[in-house]
Amino acid sequence: MQFRTLGRTGLKVSVISYGSGGPSVLGQRTGLEDAGQDALIRRVLDLGINFIDTSEGYSRSEEILGRALKGVPRDTYIMATKWNPCEKETPKTDPQDLVRSVEQSLSRMGIDAIDVMQFHGVVPSIYRTVVDRFYGTMKQLQAQGKIRFIGFSERFFSDPKHEAVVMALEQDGGLWDTIMLKYGILNQCAARRALPLAQEKDVGILNMASVRVKLTRPEELEALMAEWKGRGLIPRDALPEKDPLGFLVHGEVDSVVSAGYKFALDHPGVSTVITGTSRVDNLERNLAALLGPPLPEADQKRLHALFGPLEEAV
Ligand SMILES: NC(=O)c1ccc[n+]([C@@H]2O[C@H](COP(=O)([O-])OP(=O)(O)OC[C@H]3O[C@@H](n4cnc5c(N)ncnc54)[C@H](OP(=O)(O)O)[C@@H]3O)[C@@H](O)[C@H]2O)c1
Repeated sequence: MQFRTLGRTGLKVSVISYGSGGPSVLGQRTGLEDAGQDALIRRVLDLGINFIDTSEGYSRSEEILGRALKGVPRDTYIMATKWNPCEKETPKTDPQDLVRSVEQSLSRMGIDAIDVMQFHGVVPSIYRTVVDRFYGTMKQLQAQGKIRFIGFSERFFSDPKHEAVVMALEQDGGLWDTIMLKYGILNQCAARRALPLAQEKDVGILNMASVRVKLTRPEELEALMAEWKGRGLIPRDALPEKDPLGFLVHGEVDSVVSAGYKFALDHPGVSTVITGTSRVDNLERNLAALLGPPLPEADQKRLHALFGPLEEAV
């Protein structure tokens, strides 16, 4: 396994980590039974992955993790979870809701402390309210030893320019140990400000959803490229209609998805790339991609030229 330092937390995190949300939610949406979920999590650990992300809101993921990790020495994995500070689109009002959520997460997972506690899906319009209303409670929970480090995740599809992340890093860099954002082949915008700022402020970056969903669904990718050509976002003759990113598959790169994960780790500001698979074979493929050599420089350059200037919510 290869490790990077998670910003100022000093934690050494595996460059590939496991996410129990996303479209697969630890197999809960792909028909995985209890035994399959347990085996998947055991394989995660056996492969040397030491960072797992979840949330109170990922259906039964916390409980499943509690079951699958029973008996596993607590110092062999780093657990991150989240609390949603909003009810629908409106910020919640009672900080006790956060306290209850942390207690619930601890109990569901059968652990004494959460390593990284995050506000879930923070958008620019509520960022300040979240900090003013709830950050103090996070600090109290930290003082009580119930959480170790404090972070937040962005809500990418509402905030593709990472405005919440940039605001947080520019105004309150000292508050945040970690930030979870989306950076990938089709989502390079974070490289402009968010990632360099995170490096400057020594904030650990958890890279989420880097291949989801266009890179994993060939027809949707083809349709998206056609749409972007139609809108003048990329030149009409830049890519073929069929298998538009097929040029990435050669040498050590066995698929567009592998290329997507490799790209997601290429930026030095990224501490770890979270993969959200429900399949052991995909987990192993993704691990091989992330531990193998980076994309060839010429391909990286082509991707930067094609998609670097875009700010699309995909
Ligand atoms: N705002 C937030 O806080 C937020 C938002 C999004 C994500 N997250 C976190 O970040 C984690 C990662 O995001 P994500 O789950 O969207 O991640 P992702 O790894 O970018 O995408 C996961 C999807 O890709 C598929 N996939 C994975 N490997 C594949 C492969 N080799 N070939 C084909 N398909 C493959 C998975 O299906 P299979 O199950 O079939 O492999 C799943 O549908 C989440 O699980 C969650 O923990 C947080």
